[in-house]
Amino acid sequence: MSTIGIIGAGNIGRAIAQALARNGIAVTLSNSRGPDSLATTVAELGPLVTAGTREEAASKEIVFVAVNWSKLPDALAGLPPFGGRIVVDANNPIEAPLFKPAELGGRASSEVFADLVPGARVVKAFNHLLPELLTADPAGEGGRRVLFYSGDEAGAKAAVGTLIEQLGFFGIDLGSLAIGGRLTQFPGGPLPALNLVKFG
Ligand SMILES: NC(=O)c1ccc[n+]([C@@H]2O[C@H](COP(=O)([O-])OP(=O)(O)OC[C@H]3O[C@@H](n4cnc5c(N)ncnc54)[C@H](OP(=O)(O)O)[C@@H]3O)[C@@H](O)[C@H]2O)c1
Repeated sequence: MSTIGIIGAGNIGRAIAQALARNGIAVTLSNSRGPDSLATTVAELGPLVTAGTREEAASKEIVFVAVNWSKLPDALAGLPPFGGRIVVDANNPIEAPLFKPAELGGRASSEVFADLVPGARVVKAFNHLLPELLTADPAGEGGRRVLFYSGDEAGAKAAVGTLIEQLGFFGIDLGSLAIGGRLTQFPGGPLPALNLVKFG
């Protein structure tokens, strides 16, 4: 089992931590304000979720990033090289309170994100469901709730696909960041916020 860290402990970071912990997977959760500020959060999420620094979370074998789009450069600045480790881009290029789409220069948001994590194998996933659907039982409606993932490196996608299955979701590989990433990207893609369930 890979070690797992999360940068960002808001709605989505906490939802990912909860889904992992519920399935017996330990995770280090981090934010901008440091581990002490997460004491209540990790207490609520149970013993498998530990508060850590941003650097500790970023040192794990699989690193989820769930941070407001405009804060990503700060959240990812100055970290040691990723050296081929997997980074999951759970972000979307828009944020409260203005909800103005970010300027991406015609690229998929994950391609822009990848520039912030040099040396990482980036997989886009966990970005297209509302947090309450990430934390809900994936089999709660019968079948298995669908989670899409995309990326440019087959090994990294396979690892994230396996993790998605371990969490009880039905994973669907949508291809590259440029193609699949765009399909789940909010705004712009057709797939965000749909509660899709695979039966049979
Ligand atoms: N909410 C949704 O429905 C939803 C759905 C899918 C995808 N997303 C995407 O997921 C991402 C996170 O959204 P959210 O709703 O979880 O946001 P959120 O509730 O505002 O949480 C953002 C988190 O990012 C952390 N952060 C900010 N700057 C940081 C830094 N420099 N270093 C480390 N951590 C930092 C914040 O920590 P502090 O509080 O300590 O600053 C906070 O824990 C966004 O890109 C969003 O588009 C959101």
